[in-house]
Amino acid sequence: MAKIALTNLEKRFGSFVAVESLSLDIADGEFLALLGPSGCGKTTILRMISGLTDATGGRIHFGARDVTDLPPYARNIGLVFQGYALFPHMTVAQNVAFGLEMRALDRGEIGRRVQSALETVQLTGLAGRLPRQLSGGQQQRVALARAIVIRPDALLLDEPLSALDAKLRQELRQEIRRLQRSLGITTICVTHDQEEALSLASRLVVMHQGRIEQIGTPSDLYESPASRFVAEFIGKSNFLDGHVGAPDEFVTKSGFLFRFQRRSAAVGSRAPTSVGFRPEKIEMGRGRNAALANHVEGKVDAITYLGATTEYEVRLPSLERLTVHAADSSADPIAIGDNVTLSWSSEATFVV
Ligand SMILES: Nc1ncnc2c1ncn2[C@@H]1O[C@H](COP(=O)(O)OP(=O)(O)OP(=O)(O)O)[C@@H](O)[C@H]1O
Ligand SMILES: [Mg+2]
Repeated sequence: MAKIALTNLEKRFGSFVAVESLSLDIADGEFLALLGPSGCGKTTILRMISGLTDATGGRIHFGARDVTDLPPYARNIGLVFQGYALFPHMTVAQNVAFGLEMRALDRGEIGRRVQSALETVQLTGLAGRLPRQLSGGQQQRVALARAIVIRPDALLLDEPLSALDAKLRQELRQEIRRLQRSLGITTICVTHDQEEALSLASRLVVMHQGRIEQIGTPSDLYESPASRFVAEFIGKSNFLDGHVGAPDEFVTKSGFLFRFQRRSAAVGSRAPTSVGFRPEKIEMGRGRNAALANHVEGKVDAITYLGATTEYEVRLPSLERLTVHAADSSADPIAIGDNVTLSWSSEATFVV
């Protein structure tokens, strides 16, 4: 197990910069999630850490060891890549044993380790099957077993669950978390799935065009996003444009005045910025909740039932639209065309 340190890591493909001067420390045993839109460099970062792609600049350390110039097999990393297929003609046990045979361990030791890895991912009964005789989730678990059997210093997961259906993904997510905790392996997981990132990782890194946009705990990123990009990437958010007036007041272009408590470091006074607040932090009712700092009145334009919550589109007199997520109140249901008042706290209001 090891701490991973990336220092000014860079990858250029010709003149195109896929990863730009990236510096990041991942603590020993930490579970870090890498998030960002397609093409922002996530896979490239994992490939550089694993040694499958050479960095064009910067250093990679595992603990005190500089591994930047080492080949993949000398780095001792477990990989589960999306579409990193199992060998189709080998049984489950043979697939899992493969990495150990490459390391020329003796038969008895290989047998014991394979058995134990299959127990860890709960596949003991299926050791003799071929990959095509397994479900998608079982195949992913074989891939996980194959990654952990070598007792890696780090585990790199590139969208390991994206091919699975929602229910299975949730189950395997819990399994990966349990496995990662019990083995204490430093893990970096790339995912498109926010829910996956928020539930698995102790810290999230949001990437944008080869650079880090923000690093923090799930609640840091959700409650205090550093930019509109992050706020829109993690969860849903309402935004209104305007500028900061008094130190804790935001004036929108349409003339509303909102109190806020969170502002990203980059926001200067009077520069054009946006005020944001999350749809589920808004209280909607016939009258205002005087205990909360911010209020607007509007008319309900659309209602979408989402299961646990209901989404309301509310049009303001300024014609701006806000999204509200609220539990459906059966006592006094709100209908399209109703006039409502929205209230939310300054604490739930951020400026980016
Ligand atoms: N071998 C290559 N040659 C040239 N450009 C490449 C190469 N590999 C990746 N790129 C480019 O580098 C950028 C980052 O690619 P990367 O695969 O890391 O993205 P990603 O964040 O993993 O995206 P996705 O979410 O779609 O998997 C992309 O613009 C991609 O086109
Ligand atoms: Mg990728």
